[in-house]
Amino acid sequence: WKVSSDEVFAQGPVVPVLVIKDIEHAVPLAKALIKGGIKVLEVTLRTPVAIEAIRRIAEEVPDALVGAGTVTNEAQLKQVTDAGALFAISPGMTSELLDAGNSGSIALIPGISSTSDLMKGLDKGYTHFKFFPAEASGGVKAIKSISGPFPDVKFCPTGGIGPENYLEYLSLPNVMCAGGSWLAPDDAVVNGEWDRISQLASDAVKGASS
Ligand code: 3PG
Repeated sequence: WKVSSDEVFAQGPVVPVLVIKDIEHAVPLAKALIKGGIKVLEVTLRTPVAIEAIRRIAEEVPDALVGAGTVTNEAQLKQVTDAGALFAISPGMTSELLDAGNSGSIALIPGISSTSDLMKGLDKGYTHFKFFPAEASGGVKAIKSISGPFPDVKFCPTGGIGPENYLEYLSLPNVMCAGGSWLAPDDAVVNGEWDRISQLASDAVKGASS
């Protein structure tokens, strides 16, 4: 069962970027987000338990479309694939990673913040990219401008996005989803405030559909 980048983006419209420090938080956090109407989860490889967190969510939360974030090289791509990730997201790209994505068995979504990197990705067959760091790289204006020469490219921006600006991004025709850590604030996760997280998720999903 292979999920394409387009299917991952289409399942948005918001993607929580998760930094899981305690493995016991993985499943309840995923369930809280799903309860709030979110489908796609990005578990970043920024903590020692990240791989195990992906494994547990993949096994125990079947309604989640779980992927890995902060995947920067081929070895990590293989590790997250083995753990059950359905897609991998990178903050950037190297040609080694792009090649590994093309020969791998899960969707790779490389990150770009320049048209040169976008062209490198297009050359290797990629059409769906993370736009990172979104706000610091020109935000909505930059993505609008990029759509001129590259109208068929689709983006999931992350970095500096929150309740105050995510709808502006989602209103762009080349933005299919928007991601960020605002959907699972660290203090809420650490304190096990799962209802608060479900509420943040459902507010974001409802806002995007109205
Ligand atoms: C990412 O990896 O996408 C970012 O760290 C998320 O950025 P944010 O914390 O500003 O939402």
